[in-house]
Amino acid sequence: MEVTTFSEQEIQQFRAETRGTAGRIHFNNAGASLPPDVVVETVISYLQEEALYGGYETEDKYNGQLEAVYESIARLINAGKDEVALVENASFAWGLAFNGIAFEKGDVIITSEMEYATNLLGFLNAKKKHGVEIRVVPNDDSGNFSLRALEAVISPQTKLIAITHIPSNAGNVLPIAEIGKIARKHPILYLVDACQTAGQMPIDVKEISCDMLSVTGRKFLRGPRGTGFLYVRRDVQDRLNPIFMDGHSVEVISQDDFSIRKDARRFELYEKNRALTLGLGKAVDYVLNIGVDRVWQRIQQLAFLLRQQLGGMEGITVHDGGYLQCGIVTFSVNGKEPSFVKEKLAEKQINVSVGKAGSTPIYMDKHHLSSTVRASLHYYNTEEEIRVFCAAIIAIVPARN
Ligand SMILES: Cc1ncc(COP(=O)(O)O)c(C=O)c1O
Repeated sequence: MEVTTFSEQEIQQFRAETRGTAGRIHFNNAGASLPPDVVVETVISYLQEEALYGGYETEDKYNGQLEAVYESIARLINAGKDEVALVENASFAWGLAFNGIAFEKGDVIITSEMEYATNLLGFLNAKKKHGVEIRVVPNDDSGNFSLRALEAVISPQTKLIAITHIPSNAGNVLPIAEIGKIARKHPILYLVDACQTAGQMPIDVKEISCDMLSVTGRKFLRGPRGTGFLYVRRDVQDRLNPIFMDGHSVEVISQDDFSIRKDARRFELYEKNRALTLGLGKAVDYVLNIGVDRVWQRIQQLAFLLRQQLGGMEGITVHDGGYLQCGIVTFSVNGKEPSFVKEKLAEKQINVSVGKAGSTPIYMDKHHLSSTVRASLHYYNTEEEIRVFCAAIIAIVPARN
């Protein structure tokens, strides 16, 4: 596959606008991407204004821009801005949605083997607290989520389908729009973890037909750490109990009663880091300007190239399955611990991460994997970086006697 989506000039521009690309090869975008300079500068200058003029006074000045962040996020996922709540990370967003559901004994939650650990913890906690049951739809032998198995497992007791779109520790992409079509045939809530999706692949909540969707800012979106958001479909908002409330969550409060506000901001609290909010908005605008479709195309091309090159090397096992694969490339170097591989690469200014069993427990247990090397590519990475990376890997592979 040729890597053709952007011109060389465009790639050089993206890299010139991302100071971190100058000094190292960053293949840890599934951990946290390098932010564009404009994101960093926005955050720093907002904090400096707060220090000089006061937090509330600065907020007044930037009110319009802070409001526009909701609009940008709504555009990114094809939602209404009244369906977006800003929170600190994807786990918080997911937890607000999940724990807002009024589970009862015997309710069934359906998930996949690729589900993220935090979400699994939520299910297990609901099992202990409310007596819900958990059903895991296994992938087929090629690593694809089985829609047929999903249909077979749905019953009148099914309360929720909760799916991680792109898992933390594997390159597979799950068919969330097809799952949504099945969910919609039943009175079932549908919660999507799009933590690794936003900024990597287009997201259209209408096409997915999800009720709730959680996202983090720091990964493929290239926003600052400590940012994220939750989408809750308009007509589902009243069915979720807000877990925390403050004056921002309500329209009216009296001594005896309150009425909850009419949009998704009921799920967020008033006090948040406004500098980071603006930084997140800049990151979202940045990718909207480039076009998420094009970003996704280039990521697929780069990841294909990397998998192809790693797959052709002796002593390397690439683990990613499924027909549709993303920018997260997971592999093992025979006889070497992933943490050792990560350290050796770091000596050459190459960033990767270690995918641990605890992040995606069901999948990792099934495949008898305790950890893998995770190289995650973004559109600002290059073919030359892949070449240097593969040469560094070859140097780590044990020589055959
Ligand atoms: C698939 C998936 N979901 C959720 C999360 C949690 O995101 P956060 O750390 O922003 O809470 C992660 C983090 O790696 C993830 O990979």
